[in-house]
Amino acid sequence: MTTLVIGGAGYIGSHVVRLLLTKGEKVVVVDSLSTGIEERTAGAELVELDVTAPDASEKLAFQLRAAGADSVIHFAAHKQVGESVEKPEMYWHDNIGGLANVLAACASAEVRDVVFSSSAAVYGVPDVDLVTEELTPQPINPYGATKYVGEWMLADAERAHGLRTVALRYFNVAGAGWPELADTAVMNLVPIVLDRLEQGKDPVVFGDDYDTPDGTCIRDYVHVLDLAEAHVAALDYLRGEERPHRVFNVGTGTGSSVLEVLDAIGRARGVELTPEIGPRRAGDPARLVCSATRIEEALGWTGTHDLDDIVRSAVEARRGAGRP
Ligand SMILES: NC(=O)c1ccc[n+]([C@@H]2O[C@H](COP(=O)([O-])OP(=O)(O)OC[C@H]3O[C@@H](n4cnc5c(N)ncnc54)[C@H](O)[C@@H]3O)[C@@H](O)[C@H]2O)c1
Repeated sequence: MTTLVIGGAGYIGSHVVRLLLTKGEKVVVVDSLSTGIEERTAGAELVELDVTAPDASEKLAFQLRAAGADSVIHFAAHKQVGESVEKPEMYWHDNIGGLANVLAACASAEVRDVVFSSSAAVYGVPDVDLVTEELTPQPINPYGATKYVGEWMLADAERAHGLRTVALRYFNVAGAGWPELADTAVMNLVPIVLDRLEQGKDPVVFGDDYDTPDGTCIRDYVHVLDLAEAHVAALDYLRGEERPHRVFNVGTGTGSSVLEVLDAIGRARGVELTPEIGPRRAGDPARLVCSATRIEEALGWTGTHDLDDIVRSAVEARRGAGRP
């Protein structure tokens, strides 16, 4: 089987590429290298291409035919909530326009199976204990909106062109499956805290007066290696006959508070952390934890790594890179 992985030089994409290669699949990576790193794609063919370029659809279709690809995984997107609020046009143009080019290329090259990176950001600030896929998404920022619209586009492409698609709504992704594939961006809690500690600063907690047991926000952390396995499971699902769902949450169903994450980081580094308490950030729900029942039942996938595994892998990857 041959899979074209768009955005495969990025943090999550490169884990999926590595996993597919270890399972003996042929992989071609398409990436603009805007945030991606070429070395992460070792073992796969790399085609440098911006999927938002005017001629991208034709070029992608060419690459799909040349590779003999039978599936596509599409990771390439901007992913910063704050930036999306400041530059919504860029998010609509690139996240939606890029996906439109990918789907048109798949239709033209008759590649049927597509897996799309969606996000828990589609849900906005749901007031429920466990978020199920039945909940109507209500994104509260352009980033989340582009992911939700992306899911509609998949459904349209299924109807129009006979594609078979899966959207995976990732919850909080962290950790490293291989040290050299670790997250180099400083946007999520674990890398943000590790970066502060590296600078000799205390971590900052944004709000400790939420309606949660310890007052800090609760999220559902999923190890990037487990997430990579979910993509492999999604490809298997698309290649099979039965396919009752096209949208899946990817999380563990277990919530961890910011203070619990800080404790885990302290354990992994053998130190006790003393966080500063800052003000709440706009748009942060108190709790965002998924029900992972659908993906377990339909794809046979469950997360196997707990918070300590996730944090330890991130800390060890940094140490392996010679950072404290
Ligand atoms: N990291 C998270 O916590 C998280 C959570 C939910 C959803 N997601 C989604 O998962 C996907 C991957 O995220 P990531 O954390 O690996 O990000 P990343 O920035 O590390 O990877 C994105 C990759 O896509 C490439 N890319 C970007 N624009 C491109 C374009 N126009 N043409 C070709 N390649 C392009 C980048 O060079 C990079 O290699 C994104 O769609 C993101 O929205 C990520």
